[in-house]
Amino acid sequence: VWIVDNLEDLSSSYPQIAQAAAQLRENEVVAFPTETVYGLGANAKSDEAVGKIYEAKGRPSDNPLIVHIASIKQLHEVAAHVPVYVDKLIEALWPGPITFVLPKKAGLSDRVTAGLDTVAVRMPDHPLALALIKEANLPVAAPSANLSGKPSPTRASHVFDDLNGRIAGIVDGGSTGVGVESTVLDCTQQIPVILRPGGVTKEQLQALIGEVTVDQALTDETQAPKSPGMKYTHYAPAAQMTIVDGTPSFLQGLISEAKSEGKKVGVLSAKETAGNYEADVVFSCGSRANMHTVASELYDVLRAFNETDVDCIFSESFSSAGVGQAVMNRLMKAAGHRLIKE
Ligand code: TXA
Ligand code: MG
Repeated sequence: VWIVDNLEDLSSSYPQIAQAAAQLRENEVVAFPTETVYGLGANAKSDEAVGKIYEAKGRPSDNPLIVHIASIKQLHEVAAHVPVYVDKLIEALWPGPITFVLPKKAGLSDRVTAGLDTVAVRMPDHPLALALIKEANLPVAAPSANLSGKPSPTRASHVFDDLNGRIAGIVDGGSTGVGVESTVLDCTQQIPVILRPGGVTKEQLQALIGEVTVDQALTDETQAPKSPGMKYTHYAPAAQMTIVDGTPSFLQGLISEAKSEGKKVGVLSAKETAGNYEADVVFSCGSRANMHTVASELYDVLRAFNETDVDCIFSESFSSAGVGQAVMNRLMKAAGHRLIKE
């Protein structure tokens, strides 16, 4: 039995993985940490249990869930066919922040796959998540443990803020590391397609297996995304956010203009440039020197703006290389694709 060693008050009633696993087996929903974001888990074989996930999150029922597993044996219990290139990726990247979309096998609740003939599967790289799945001895369906539309939770307190009273419990593992969700890779064709950029980068995938394509909808807003979840607005703070691609002095010009209209202004900035801005609130979000730190802090900062009274938020723009692709994808969604170029 795992003892959760990072206890905050809210989780003191959930010290043991054994208890959380028992609740999963009783078709209750339990939040747990992964290396990316917190997940909201339920027995993937039970319609009743999976129904509770959609209900707790207020999630549209046409948006399928990722099935979390703790062994390769479980992969073959849920997927009907695993291409050779996926074996290679699994060897190098699992447990880790990548989800494979594969032809599904019978046995899972239809509500997990939202009526599709494919299933999304991932083995998370977190000792508590793996222990919970093993102890429950079930495939565990788990979306991010936020209310639908909010940023994904990277701390147990985020889960508590969104879902207290709506779920059976939270396993508190402290802050998650990666900070953005897993990469979702469609592996139903000869050449895999990135449906959602995430913790594993396109560059990593290309180095391992050669050709990888990216769903056109990720770069062209007019296209319908191939992943049902990618069409929904997400992550948006209450105040209107705009991404600014330009110098700090250009961004300061926009701040001053908004202030002259009587607005309270927030800024999301890299640590390196945060000192350049005179605004009502300036939150720094990681360092440009290491984009992993930006990814790791992003959702906490987006949530923190809701604790302030700013009317609008300007965010610096970041490089789309490596994990920056996931960061910019989430920032653009949070901004409703509002982008100002210098
Ligand atoms: O890092 C993560 O992936 C986190 C942690 C908890 O593992 N989970 C997560 O789940 O982000 P969720 O439900 O918030 O996002 C799952 C995404 C959605 O965009 C959904 O549409 C897509 O995966 N998806 C799930 N099944 C799919 C399928 N069969 N075909 C295409 N897309 C699928
Ligand atoms: Mg989500």
